[in-house]
Amino acid sequence: MLTLNINGEKRTVEASPDTPLLYVLRNELNVMTPKFGCGMAQCGACSVLLGNDEIRACITPISALGNKEVTTVDGLPARWAKQRNLTANKATRNLHPVQEAWIEQQVPQCGICQFGMMIKVTELLEKNPAPTDADIKAALTTSGTSPHLCRCGSYAAILDGAHHAAKLMAQAPAKAGAK
Ligand code: FES
Ligand code: FES
Repeated sequence: MLTLNINGEKRTVEASPDTPLLYVLRNELNVMTPKFGCGMAQCGACSVLLGNDEIRACITPISALGNKEVTTVDGLPARWAKQRNLTANKATRNLHPVQEAWIEQQVPQCGICQFGMMIKVTELLEKNPAPTDADIKAALTTSGTSPHLCRCGSYAAILDGAHHAAKLMAQAPAKAGAK
């Protein structure tokens, strides 16, 4: 048994240490936003954040996670709230700006790739709050083990979503005091 840090919660799992994180998330912990696309680190549908870095959950054994926090799209609101010192109440009501941007720009088509896209864009914006088109394209194509693939071809909408998310993040109060 291993204890993992998933979206800020300690979760003890039965899976053997060599089990890929994606299977543990979906089959044991009922965390369904990371998707199974290729199972070979070739599409990005399964992406999650490990600490501050995107990883492919389909090829990452849970023994490799250590004590670092895994963040899925489910955990983005709480991650944002923590970064902004929002209250727990606000944390349960507010979406992460990347999620808001994806809704406002109506980015997804079928949606299966979009959880990984949002994770990758979150990783980018935490490191580069005002990315150019080229920065976003590079993040989605050359910064990971493979490009993030969208079979629906929503790449233009993803670019718009990333820029809109950057704008929403910039408009947010710097660090609100907890109320
Ligand atoms: S399912 Fe993991 S990269 Fe495709
Ligand atoms: S929205 Fe369908 S695969 Fe990307």
